[in-house]
Amino acid sequence: MKPVTDELVWFNGKVMPLSQAKVGLEDRGFNFADGIYEVVRFYRGKTFTLAEHLQRLVRSAQAIQLIVPADIEDLARDVRQLITDTGIKEGMVYLQLTRGEAPRAHAFPEKSRPTLFFYARPLPEPWKPGRGEGCRLLSAVDDRWHKCWIKSLALLPNVLAKNHALSTGHDEAVFIHEGKVTECSASNIFCVRGGKVLTSPAGPKVLPGITRLVILKLAKKLGIPVEEKAVGRDEAIACDEVFISSTTRELNWVREWDGTTVDSGKCGPITRALHEAFVAEVKAETK
Ligand SMILES: Cc1ncc(COP(=O)(O)O)c(C=O)c1O
Repeated sequence: MKPVTDELVWFNGKVMPLSQAKVGLEDRGFNFADGIYEVVRFYRGKTFTLAEHLQRLVRSAQAIQLIVPADIEDLARDVRQLITDTGIKEGMVYLQLTRGEAPRAHAFPEKSRPTLFFYARPLPEPWKPGRGEGCRLLSAVDDRWHKCWIKSLALLPNVLAKNHALSTGHDEAVFIHEGKVTECSASNIFCVRGGKVLTSPAGPKVLPGITRLVILKLAKKLGIPVEEKAVGRDEAIACDEVFISSTTRELNWVREWDGTTVDSGKCGPITRALHEAFVAEVKAETK
C-alpha cells in the first residue's frame, strides 16, 4: 500500500515515517482517552518555551499516575533534532503519551508500555500584533471535568463546543462555569478593565497555559497590573479589551463576543503592547 505520508514521527524512541508507526486497537489512549499531550511552537526551526511544556507534560503525567518513559533532557534533544530533520521552520510539535496497550479494562494494567510519540507540522505565521480581523467568541456551558489543569486527551466537550462555535460563524468557544468565564475550548482568556488585566486563576477549570504564563511574566515586566480572578460573562464582555492566548495563536484580540462588539471592534493598546512584548520574547529565545 502506498504510504499515506512520509512525514517523520518519533515513536517510542525511534524516528520513522508516520505511515509505519502503528498503535494497537487496545491502546488505552484510544479506548479511554487515558493519556495526555502537549503542543510546542517553534519559530525559525527553534523551539519556544520547550522546557516549560515538558515540565507541564511531567505534571500532567504524574496527575494520571504515569511516568514519562524518557529522560526529559533526552526528550528535549530529540524534539529539537526531529524539527531539524523535518526541515520545517515555522510550526508546532504535537506530543502524546498514553498508558499504552492492554486488554480493555478500567483498572490500570499491571504491565503496559506507555505509548509516546511526537511529530512536527508546519503552521502559518501568527498575526502580527494588532493585525487580523479579531476573534469572534461564543459562550458555552462549561460541562468539562474539574481537573482541566491536566492536559488530558479527553477533549470531547472542547471539541463539541469548538465545532458549535465554528458552525455558527464564530472562531472560538468560551466556557462559562456558574456565570464566570473560565477559559476557551483551546485557549486561555484575558480581559482588560481600567488598565488592569484580569484572567481566571489556573486550576480545576483552567489549564495553566504556557502562553498565559509568558503573558503574566511580560505584564509584570511592563508594569501592567494583573489580577487572577474569575470574571462574570456580562462583566467580561463589557471590558475595555478582551484577548485569548495559546501556543499556536500567541495572542489574539477579540472583536465580538455573543454578537456584542468588544472595545469598538479594534485591538486595544494593552493587548497590542503585550503581544509586541511576546513577539520580542519569542525573538530573543529563538534567535
Ligand atoms: C483548554 C485549553 N486552554 C488553554 C490553552 C492554551 O495553552 P498553551 O498556551 O499552553 O497552548 C489550550 C491550548 O491548547 C487549551 O487547549
